[in-house]
Amino acid sequence: MKKDRNRREKEGLLPEPTPDQGPRPAETAKLGITETAFRDAHQSIMATRLALDDMLPVTEMMDEIGYHSLEVWGGATFDAAMRFLNEDPWERLRILRKRFRKTRLQMLLRGQNLLGYRHYSDEVVREFVRRAVGNGIDIVRVFDALNDVRNLEVAADQVLKEGAHLQLCIAYTLSPVHDVQAFRRLARTMQEMGAHSLCIKDMAGLLAPNDAYALARGIKEDTGLPLQIHSHYTTGLAAMSYLETARAGADVVDCAISPFSMGTSQPATESIVAALRGGPRDTGIDLEKLVPIADHFRRLREKYRDIIVNLAGININILRYQIPGGMYSNLVSQLKEQGAADRLPEVLAEVPRVRKEMGYPPLVTPTSQIVGTQATLNVLVGERWKMVPREVKNYFLGLYGRPPAPLDEEIRDKVIGSETPITVRPGELIEGELKRAEKEIGAWVSDPEDLLSYVLFPSVAKDFLVQRFARRNYRDVGLDKLIGGAGYPL
Ligand code: CO
Repeated sequence: MKKDRNRREKEGLLPEPTPDQGPRPAETAKLGITETAFRDAHQSIMATRLALDDMLPVTEMMDEIGYHSLEVWGGATFDAAMRFLNEDPWERLRILRKRFRKTRLQMLLRGQNLLGYRHYSDEVVREFVRRAVGNGIDIVRVFDALNDVRNLEVAADQVLKEGAHLQLCIAYTLSPVHDVQAFRRLARTMQEMGAHSLCIKDMAGLLAPNDAYALARGIKEDTGLPLQIHSHYTTGLAAMSYLETARAGADVVDCAISPFSMGTSQPATESIVAALRGGPRDTGIDLEKLVPIADHFRRLREKYRDIIVNLAGININILRYQIPGGMYSNLVSQLKEQGAADRLPEVLAEVPRVRKEMGYPPLVTPTSQIVGTQATLNVLVGERWKMVPREVKNYFLGLYGRPPAPLDEEIRDKVIGSETPITVRPGELIEGELKRAEKEIGAWVSDPEDLLSYVLFPSVAKDFLVQRFARRNYRDVGLDKLIGGAGYPL
């Protein structure tokens, strides 16, 4: 041991951790890195506006790094590609697939919500998964905002049928009903559902190092499955928690190349690579090879500087009120629009109350929007639960799934009156949607994937598909500009 330490010091490496720092079950395995630059990182720091053309120049270099995987699809990228970039998300996936010959491609799927904001029919869920895998996704990370595993069932089953890697994902949050034991139970259930790996998804950056160690250790002990950690840097905890989970035997962590990292995004890839270099969990990634990639993303940061969220330092309110960064900035902008920016402290204090009354949902799309809107209304209207939007009512009716803890009965009666909540899996109640879509949009569809784009985002996809049709068919005669205007009636 002593001798080994001298050698390490000579080579400029930090000494081995001493035994009193605890056991390391996976002490010889490389820690894998999933690079999020093409999905979560740009979703978190620049409203998902990164265009395919800005990705392509570095794909060849990134393919040589030896990442565990690249997160490139899903989340908000699907909607944003069509809505803001006039890009076909399916085509983007196919092109990236061709470029990445050596590296696995990963996506984020919101269970029965797919990439949208409501539940879809089982038929749509299955068809979507089939097409996502068919167009190039290797690893499908599936989560449900309420951790209601019934909402994962159909997507999970289809991922397995397609022969892809099924990663089931725990939405991490803090509450009186969310402790290490509860998450360990959830992990075991996910293993029984056939997961090839598990993920702890910490969308708000609330996972503190000690809890992270206990949770990762417990899940590894119980399931033995590969475990991946996904966090956000918003509270400053993420990199510390990554190291603790690595010590506890986690297998992969999600990072973003430095110019797209930290703030509301993930910890920096280079920092994690450097932090572990020479130690038992060395990532095996060559820091030098990351330099030209980082240069490219630094130029993009400059190019997109007007829309980059420049969160300097740590937002302590996120730790105090346990609100994800994206939800926090949404609340700020909603209140500004209402000319009520000064009510922010009241709304922030209202969020935990509403969340308690709604049975402690983790705050992630779509529950973050639902809780945030209700908290804002409760403050601005001046009477709590007086005005209740449809989505909140649907939540109380069980249409998003089963909340982690019982609903507040008094509030429930106020919100849904005499209506009866459903008790079955919400997806069961939704009829097939593809036939109707075919009828409505069939004329503009050229690929089967187009129908799915339309079912998920009808008006956005309609504009996009009509424009694309015009570009393809009328460009030669100059009519493409006439027919291709956004909002063309159909
Ligand atoms: Co995330």
